[in-house]
Amino acid sequence: MKNQRVVVTGGAGFIGSHLVVQLVEAGNDVVVIDTLLRGNKIPHEIFKQIEFHKVDVCDRDKVKAISKGANVIFHFAAILGVDIVADNPIETMETEVNGMQSVAGAAIENQIDRIVYASTSGVYGHLALEKSVDEEILVDPRTSYAMAKRYNEIYLASLFEEKGINSIAIRFFNVYGLRQDNRMVIPRFYEQAMSNEPITVFGTGEQTRDFTYVDDAVKASILLANRVKGFEIFNVANERESTIGELAEKIKKMSGSTSEIKFIYAPKKRYDFEVGRRFGSSAKLLKHIDYKPNTQLNEGLDVIYASLLN
Ligand SMILES: NC(=O)c1ccc[n+]([C@@H]2O[C@H](COP(=O)([O-])OP(=O)(O)OC[C@H]3O[C@@H](n4cnc5c(N)ncnc54)[C@H](O)[C@@H]3O)[C@@H](O)[C@H]2O)c1
Repeated sequence: MKNQRVVVTGGAGFIGSHLVVQLVEAGNDVVVIDTLLRGNKIPHEIFKQIEFHKVDVCDRDKVKAISKGANVIFHFAAILGVDIVADNPIETMETEVNGMQSVAGAAIENQIDRIVYASTSGVYGHLALEKSVDEEILVDPRTSYAMAKRYNEIYLASLFEEKGINSIAIRFFNVYGLRQDNRMVIPRFYEQAMSNEPITVFGTGEQTRDFTYVDDAVKASILLANRVKGFEIFNVANERESTIGELAEKIKKMSGSTSEIKFIYAPKKRYDFEVGRRFGSSAKLLKHIDYKPNTQLNEGLDVIYASLLN
């Protein structure tokens, strides 16, 4: 994708900021809509080259006006983080539902026929227990966040049927990398390890996740944006399982930390949502764009650790 006018909602956030960097570097004209809930993660040099609007994605009139003339909208604005979502289920759902209506309205009014939406592997809920999940498996969202993501996937499917707006929903599997904040497990473990405080693992540490490096996730998103047609769902997963206990060990070892690894009881709200095992299949992604995430967890962790030393 180059020489396109691209709107990115949530562009100042973790994944959004990496997306903005790659889009600008490829020669696109990038417009960001973000309320800066997590600060501005877009590197300074890149920020100077974009158009930025501190605007709530739920503000339909403003989103419509800002996105005039755009070729594609990446809709990545959201409320997330297990604890934050558990404490704010109403705002989580509102941002998803009203934000998507705003984006859809802008696409219809401005004849933007491509939306790339950040969904989540969370829609698979507990069904991911037995095997690597593909897009065909029945979904089972358990949180307001996952529920809202699934709702928006269905909404986008109908938007194509009713209005001919093409879109893709990307189900990301635990994206990690530079500039992520400590709502997520990897930055939290680094913070604890580097200060030699106990590394706190919820539960037994045997629960698994599929960690996808952010550069890979963004590359896949841009390649997908080039081929949006109808409505499609794609997993973006690294296809490798790691236990949270192993992750804690790796981070402790890498940082030469004296931290104790402490297995603690999580607050009840966490257990209600806890998924024992989750890893995804990127076979559909590979088939359609001839690419799938390939950065190994150790490589990604090395990059983060190196940045923390600077
Ligand atoms: N990080 C992951 O592992 C992961 C996994 C699955 C899906 N996702 C999805 O990817 C997207 C990006 O996630 P992230 O990790 O970068 O999260 P993030 O919290 O770092 O970024 C989200 C951004 O959205 C902005 N935002 C929130 N509410 C807004 C509103 N009403 N109007 C405008 N901006 C608003 C925030 O200010 C923030 O900059 C989200 O949609 C998320 O649900 C992320």
